Amino acid sequence: FQPKPLAGCRVLLTAGPTFERIDAVRGITNTSSGKMGFAVARAAWEAGAEVTLVAGETPLPTPIGCRRIDVRSAEEMLGAVEAELRGTDIFIAVAAVADYYVLNQSEHKIKKDAHILTLELAPNPDILARVACGDNPPFCVGFAAESENLLEYAEAKRHRKQLPLLVANLVQQAMGADDNEVILLDDQGQHRLPRGPKLEVARQLIAHVARLYGER
Ligand code: C5P
Repeated sequence: FQPKPLAGCRVLLTAGPTFERIDAVRGITNTSSGKMGFAVARAAWEAGAEVTLVAGETPLPTPIGCRRIDVRSAEEMLGAVEAELRGTDIFIAVAAVADYYVLNQSEHKIKKDAHILTLELAPNPDILARVACGDNPPFCVGFAAESENLLEYAEAKRHRKQLPLLVANLVQQAMGADDNEVILLDDQGQHRLPRGPKLEVARQLIAHVARLYGER
């Protein structure tokens, strides 16, 4: 007998990097393989949820059982999330969203010459904060990767974005790797999960999400 703690729940996730266009052939992106987000999507499906995965550009195969919506930019990711939000019980933002987009994009490939080229960058919307601070929000989970003061910054982020649960990445080299180690921050405090393959970490994270969601 396999318990299905998220049976009947709708889970919406973001995963992977966003890509912000500079011109016809260039852009700005973040380093993100999408592996952690895809593992969490699969773990949510294993737990019985109906899963929609909004994915930035990644060559990863779609996790079993999940519905996938491919997007490129943060704006497109926000649009897809807003379109899917209705009926969502749990929103898990794993994507590495670019902080800025390019204001002065060029339709054609920019030709190089001796001049200095200036890119104007404007801040992207914070998808997770918009969802978490909206009316009647789903149960929201965020991820944080910091290069210093991890727990302090992560807890501040959890409060700023009004999240019941934030996952702090302990492994600096987790990007692209198959292993991860995380600390879960919630109203009860900190819970360290053992280091392991991303799918194992994702399964434990989903078990924790299911417990907190059930206790709400
Ligand atoms: O970039 P930051 O450290 O604030 O990201 C923390 C969390 O917020 C992550 O879960 C990320 O997916 C989400 N986020 C988002 N939209 C942004 C920036 C971050 O959904 N523009």
